Amino acid sequence: MNELAWGTNNDLNDNQFYNRFEDIEFISNLLKSSRYGTSPSILLTGFRGVGKSALMKKIQKNFRDENYLIVYIDLSASNAYQTDEFSRESIIELIYDQIINECREVGITTVDNKIEKYIKTHDVALKEIVNINGYPVPFLWTKRNYKKLANFVMELPQYLYDEYDENINGIFLFFDEFQIIKELGDDLTDFLWYMRSFIQKQNNVSYVFSGSMSVKDSLIEEIAGSNGAFGGRILTIEIKPFSYETTKNYLNDNAEYLKFTKDGFDQFYNCTKGIPFYINIFGNLLPRNVNLDSDSVKENFIKFLPVLAMHFSNSWFRLSLQEQKILTTLLDESLNRSGIAKKLRVTSGAIGRSLNRLQDNGLIEMENNNYCIPNFVFKAWLKNEYETKGVYPYKSI
Ligand SMILES: Nc1ncnc2c1ncn2[C@@H]1O[C@H](COP(=O)(O)OP(=O)(O)OP(=O)(O)O)[C@@H](O)[C@H]1O
Ligand SMILES: [Mg+2]
Repeated sequence: MNELAWGTNNDLNDNQFYNRFEDIEFISNLLKSSRYGTSPSILLTGFRGVGKSALMKKIQKNFRDENYLIVYIDLSASNAYQTDEFSRESIIELIYDQIINECREVGITTVDNKIEKYIKTHDVALKEIVNINGYPVPFLWTKRNYKKLANFVMELPQYLYDEYDENINGIFLFFDEFQIIKELGDDLTDFLWYMRSFIQKQNNVSYVFSGSMSVKDSLIEEIAGSNGAFGGRILTIEIKPFSYETTKNYLNDNAEYLKFTKDGFDQFYNCTKGIPFYINIFGNLLPRNVNLDSDSVKENFIKFLPVLAMHFSNSWFRLSLQEQKILTTLLDESLNRSGIAKKLRVTSGAIGRSLNRLQDNGLIEMENNNYCIPNFVFKAWLKNEYETKGVYPYKSI
């Protein structure tokens, strides 16, 4: 039976994954062209929760069945990120691990021997080669030879393609949660250009980048803007929310127990804006087999705001008081920097760092030279906190 996935699960099964036929076909066709030596790089953008990760995983599954090697690299899975030691080395290490994992997954078990040979001929001095389950695995690289090693890992995908041309139709590297790369700080631009220098030489390997970046994220400019590392060489594809009709059909097919009146459904669409993340969470929380009119949808939306806005409330409670205050000035209007400073009765210079941090977290965005809060659920949650408690949930001083 079809069902609504829970909002935090992006590894959807066929009964849960809905629609996206056109996106899948478009992206798949582009990727397939890597077989003929024109490997495209793709940047997937779109509102948070719109389904970028779910789509990448779906495409990965489809391609696995067609003998492609798809390496899915989730930067947030890096141990170094979890322990706050994120660096260029840790990214390279993660890429390497994921390539090897995927080779095993698709049954290319001779890869380790080949890599061993490659390492010898390329003089990559690894610390040691350990034996895991009978396979020699290069392990524990040292900082001293990081540079050589990084080059080796970056060249590995095309090398594998050339070596396994007969077994695999193409190699794709999917980077998800790529926004984490911002943690490289001053090293970011340099690292992006470094990646580009390899990627542009690889004729049969395609790269897809995505993550929790809104369409206006500064990282997108760094990657795909005219002066960005991949500017002019990367195709940006925006994944759109479900349309009104798609949302309606989706719920009819996957959640027939939701009994909306016409107005009730309009209100539901208005509350979720067609974003699958909100559709699924809200759809799972709404009472079943009862009449849902506009008022009851609204009532339930308010009731469940703390759950719907959970990601954002978690971020909110980690902000400084000044960052929180900036956000509340932007609840009803967009303002430029001096407008915000004026409202907070501080100088423009005093809020620069907070603005940058909020922008990096995706909590605020620039629109027509003004800052605004892009996420409507976050806004609704904050406003509701104020309405019900009489104060914003500021950090206590
Ligand atoms: N095609 C789909 N069909 C049904 N549900 C979907 C689909 N795509 C996404 N979802 C639902 O939306 C949720 C969010 O999707 P996903 O994590 O892929 O979004 P995202 O765009 O990667 O978000 P973020 O920007 O936060 O990384 C999923 O957990 C799933 O419940
Ligand atoms: Mg995602």
